[in-house]
Amino acid sequence: MLPIDLKGKRALVAGVADDGGFGFAISKALAEAGASVCVGTWPPAMNIFENLLERGKMDQSMMLARGGKMSFEKVYPLDATFDALEDAPTEIRENKRYRERGDFSISGLADRLKADFGESSLDILVHSLANGPEVRKPLLETSRKGYLEAMSASSYSALSLIQRLGPLMRPHGSFVSLTYMASERVIPGYGGGMSSAKAALESDTRTIAFEAGRKWGLRVNTISAGPYASRAASAIGFIDTMIKYSKANSPLARELEAHDVGNAAAFLCSPLAQAITGTTLYVDNGYHSMGMSVLDQ
Ligand SMILES: NC(=O)c1ccc[n+]([C@@H]2O[C@H](COP(=O)([O-])OP(=O)(O)OC[C@H]3O[C@@H](n4cnc5c(N)ncnc54)[C@H](O)[C@@H]3O)[C@@H](O)[C@H]2O)c1
Repeated sequence: MLPIDLKGKRALVAGVADDGGFGFAISKALAEAGASVCVGTWPPAMNIFENLLERGKMDQSMMLARGGKMSFEKVYPLDATFDALEDAPTEIRENKRYRERGDFSISGLADRLKADFGESSLDILVHSLANGPEVRKPLLETSRKGYLEAMSASSYSALSLIQRLGPLMRPHGSFVSLTYMASERVIPGYGGGMSSAKAALESDTRTIAFEAGRKWGLRVNTISAGPYASRAASAIGFIDTMIKYSKANSPLARELEAHDVGNAAAFLCSPLAQAITGTTLYVDNGYHSMGMSVLDQ
């Protein structure tokens, strides 16, 4: 057997607030492979997430194939649009969903990890979050503010996570983010600068793979996932059409499952992928390779 063995590794997955998205599926796959998993959760979603966990509403999805239930080693508050607490405006810091949470910035997350586990404590870092307040607006109608917010939440946040958590990574560490094909082909309706943010994320994957590879030996990859009806994707407004279209027009005529992405991420984070860095890996049933839609369904 050629196993994905992550025993003794610690992961931080940023962007988990329920069991319905890629962040959860990646956490689960990493746990199946033996890693301990901490998550970073957006403060506005944290109460609901904690309730789901406490009331056992996620118990079924947390059952491991080898028996027993996975658990999160820590759930940290994280608003990835802030590098330091001082950067958050007063109305955010005083907002009831934020004020009890302590330092929810990326530096705050680094400090908490250091306090909880020490200086060299992390092997796997996953960025599974995105936000574009004007995602339903065409790019042509997107405001500067909306565009920059999409870039800040969806691509600079990945860079900032690597900058601040990179020093905590143990040798042979791995970073994985999630991107979408709208970075390179037109997906009408995926607006608000989100396509631009994904293009930046993919470009940064290559540059940071070089810089962080030389600095910390860190591998940096991104997964270009096909459409999947997570909470965030449902906010775009036409995810069901995207899924239907993708199934009808992909080499593999099936719907993407979250664990397809989870398993690919676990592989990328494992020693089996030790020579893979700076790459965009398509996990989309092959849709990216098509040059024409399939007619006469
Ligand atoms: N679902 C799809 O069809 C699809 C396809 C390709 C790529 N992706 C990408 O996958 C990643 C995960 O998304 P998902 O679809 O699994 O949805 P999701 O709703 O499970 O995950 C998005 C998470 O981002 C969090 N978040 C939003 N703003 C944040 C912030 N400022 N700070 C910290 N967390 C924040 C949300 O609370 C949520 O937990 C995203 O990068 C998304 O663009 C999704």
